[in-house]
Amino acid sequence: MAFDFAIDPDVTVARTLPSAFYLDPDVHALTRERVFARTWQWLGDLDDVTLPGSLSPREMLAGHLDEPLLLSRDAGGTLRCLSNVCTHRANLLVPAPCRAEQIRCGYHSRRFDLEGRMTFMPGFEEAKGFPGRSDHLPRVPLAEFAGHAFASLAPAAPFEDFIAEMRTRLAWLALDGLRHDQARDRDFEVAGHWALYVENYLEGLHIPFLHPALNQVLDMERYCYHLGRYGSLQLALARDDADAFDPPPGSIDHGERVAAYYWWVFPNLMLNFYPWGLSLNFVQPLTPDRTRVSFRGYVLGADRTGGGAGTGLDQVEIEDEAAVQSVQRGLRSRLYDRGRYSPTHERGVHHFHRLLCEFLAEA
Ligand code: FES
Ligand SMILES: [Fe+2]
Repeated sequence: MAFDFAIDPDVTVARTLPSAFYLDPDVHALTRERVFARTWQWLGDLDDVTLPGSLSPREMLAGHLDEPLLLSRDAGGTLRCLSNVCTHRANLLVPAPCRAEQIRCGYHSRRFDLEGRMTFMPGFEEAKGFPGRSDHLPRVPLAEFAGHAFASLAPAAPFEDFIAEMRTRLAWLALDGLRHDQARDRDFEVAGHWALYVENYLEGLHIPFLHPALNQVLDMERYCYHLGRYGSLQLALARDDADAFDPPPGSIDHGERVAAYYWWVFPNLMLNFYPWGLSLNFVQPLTPDRTRVSFRGYVLGADRTGGGAGTGLDQVEIEDEAAVQSVQRGLRSRLYDRGRYSPTHERGVHHFHRLLCEFLAEA
């Protein structure tokens, strides 16, 4: 389909995406191929693939891309991302995390080494030109950051371009020390379009009205937005004595009491850094009006209970979901089509919409 939505580059005159963007199933399908297949998708952490000879199956963006992938660490310690689909007749290869010297298909026993090369196949003695290039497992571009794996089927740009600003600004934080805390994990299903969930995340304009408790601990007068090429940062400073980071000398934020770094990576990942650690939010489109959001918690060092922006996250989530679901219903109105952006507080939303149009417009 032709995609002809456009967003004016000038936020002071621009109008938001039209309702059809959120409601049209064809746009949803187009977004899957042009946005999600071309950006970096979170595959989870690397906790079960630390040892040589580890295999761990990962579904890329379950419910939307549904691409069966396999993280494989070979005997020499190199980590790769391979297709988890047998090159013979497409049987799924590895069903659960394990350690192995080779990958063996359970259907007709085709074997691959941990780099994905086909090494053995019964019954193919008379096959000509076998094995060929397409009999080996396809490799998928893989990146690692803070103990997490990211992959892209057809990356529009290198992973570093998506996270460069975050890596620089948080260089003083010991991200290697992050440890998974399952007690903080949550999965929510929201009756709304995935982009509505992202837009809501990208603006602090609603904080005083929707989140009274959060509003108590943030200095909303100095809340600010930093836009990068494929992501953005909302820098939230602490009010009064609320729990905060104290960035060291050399950090651009030295001298400030930072309540939270809210980083967003286009299109569907949020990395929220609080003094206690990282709350990772992964947004997964299911249908045009249904979205799954997974929260995963990673703690830094010793237990820390602060009472700042990083606490009460469940309550904030309930408040945000109610707004997203209300907007979803409003979008069906025949009397609404597009709105305008707040130039002070919705530049991040505008930036997101511009990126969507950029990706969707490309042939
Ligand atoms: S499908 Fe894997 S060996 Fe046949
Ligand atoms: Fe919110």
